[in-house]
Amino acid sequence: MSLIEFSTSEELYRESLALRHAVLREPLGMDLYSEDLSAEVQQMHFGIVREGALIATLTVAKLSQTSAKIRQMAVSPDAQRTGAGSQLMQGCLACLAERGFAEVSLHARKTAIPFYAKNGFEETGEEFLEVSLPHRKMRRAL
Ligand SMILES: CC(C)(COP(=O)(O)OP(=O)(O)OC[C@H]1O[C@@H](n2cnc3c(N)ncnc32)[C@H](O)[C@@H]1OP(=O)(O)O)[C@@H](O)C(=O)NCCC(=O)NCCS
Repeated sequence: MSLIEFSTSEELYRESLALRHAVLREPLGMDLYSEDLSAEVQQMHFGIVREGALIATLTVAKLSQTSAKIRQMAVSPDAQRTGAGSQLMQGCLACLAERGFAEVSLHARKTAIPFYAKNGFEETGEEFLEVSLPHRKMRRAL
């Protein structure tokens, strides 16, 4: 299993869209491909490749010189709870720290809060709805 960073012009980005659509949108009856993804050209994209296939992905938006937001984290169903998500998160956080970021935030689905807590994030603020699901904002220092 290896951590990889890719840009929106690479085949891995197309694979990551398919994974995000299957894990984060299709189960909700939504279509990732109908969303405006144009801002993603400026964002950072990370993944974990196992046996030649992308099994986990996340995207990072830069909010300021020192602050970033993690979005669109998805692990393929047959790889969930095997440590791929944590490997991806920890690798991504190490890269962001190296690049000078001091704080990372995200919107966590309620069901994923224990995963982010295990990876050092703390809940902040009230619960809110996003893509029809309850979420909490979480953040951690780097
Ligand atoms: C949530 C998700 C990203 C976690 O990635 P993962 O690779 O499955 O997580 P890991 O195997 O690294 O889990 C590490 C620890 O996090 C916690 N954890 C992970 N998923 C959890 C869940 N669904 N419920 C409770 N705890 C969970 C556990 O403590 C786990 O350790 P354990 O398996 O030894 O008990 C992944 O399961 C996923 O893509 N889920 C569906 C989409 C989703 O919810 N994405 C997040 C949107 S905000």
